[in-house]
Amino acid sequence: MHPLEQLRDDALRDIEDALDEQALEAARVKYLGKSGSVSAWGEQMKTLPKAEKPVIGKLLNEVRNAVTAAIETRNAQFRLQKESGAIAKIDISLPGTPHEIGSLHPLHQMHERGIQIFRRMGFALAEGPDVETEWYCFDALNTPPDHPARNEQDTFYLPDDRLLRTHTSTVQIRAMESAPPPLRVIASGAAYRRDELDATHSPQFHQIEGLYVDENVSVADLKGELEFFLRELFGSETEVQFRPHYFPFTEPSLEVHVRSKALKRGEQWIEVAGCGMVHPAVFEAVNRARGDKAYDPEKWSGYAFGLGMDRLAMILFDIPDIRLFAQNDLRFLRQFA
Ligand code: PHE
Repeated sequence: MHPLEQLRDDALRDIEDALDEQALEAARVKYLGKSGSVSAWGEQMKTLPKAEKPVIGKLLNEVRNAVTAAIETRNAQFRLQKESGAIAKIDISLPGTPHEIGSLHPLHQMHERGIQIFRRMGFALAEGPDVETEWYCFDALNTPPDHPARNEQDTFYLPDDRLLRTHTSTVQIRAMESAPPPLRVIASGAAYRRDELDATHSPQFHQIEGLYVDENVSVADLKGELEFFLRELFGSETEVQFRPHYFPFTEPSLEVHVRSKALKRGEQWIEVAGCGMVHPAVFEAVNRARGDKAYDPEKWSGYAFGLGMDRLAMILFDIPDIRLFAQNDLRFLRQFA
């Protein structure tokens, strides 16, 4: 065996035996360093006879390459060991950081369900602002200045004489002012009254308003369509009762009560809406604002209703307290996700 081959075998064994990076580095310096033994052979090459140079030169190259490759391989092994050591310390059974997935508020879900049913019945969506004038909230709705609804103790007035709408009936007027009959619209949104906050009353609540104006609209249309809506919402067993009532802007006026065995509240009648036939005085007020006779009460008739949306949602989802809607308690809200 040529001494160079012996050197190679020694080097490969030392590299193999190196137990850590430091030992490996020592072996590298020993064989490949400036004064290492392989490098020393490089120096010796100069003194060799010409004939031997190519053979020994080739061998020296092979030895250098073999030692370099062995050091790289051993280094890669150390790196791998280190990495798998680090990975082994990661506890993959630890729970990660979960994404919070939001969901629609139950009142919003109620709004969407209601809108969906009324859309199928041919109603278009109308809109109006929460901050209103007395005209839209009262005057145009045949509600005289001495009506209790206009009392400072019952309504939130702003310093500029505007007010928070006490019902969504304001949208009836806005819709009729902006389009001639026939008209078939609903509007859904917040309304405000100075009610004491308790399990069934809140100063901010929500309504779905409906208005249908056409030729020959009758109480039968009103009853049939509200019954259809309430049975779609609460199930076909739902019973609906219409009781005489009074609103300034409808004549006759009715209150709507429902009862259904399918609901948790079982045998109890629950009031869910006010409704009636649009009062001719309302059409006249709209005509005055429009400056035409588009809503001629001799030609057109209509019905209107206002459904209590919080009430509907409380019945549908069996919610015992209206305050839950506004408390932002995730334990409550998550139940509707
Ligand atoms: N606006 C009435 C209320 O809030 C409900 C209603 C709407 C009654 C439309 C008749 C017609 O109590």
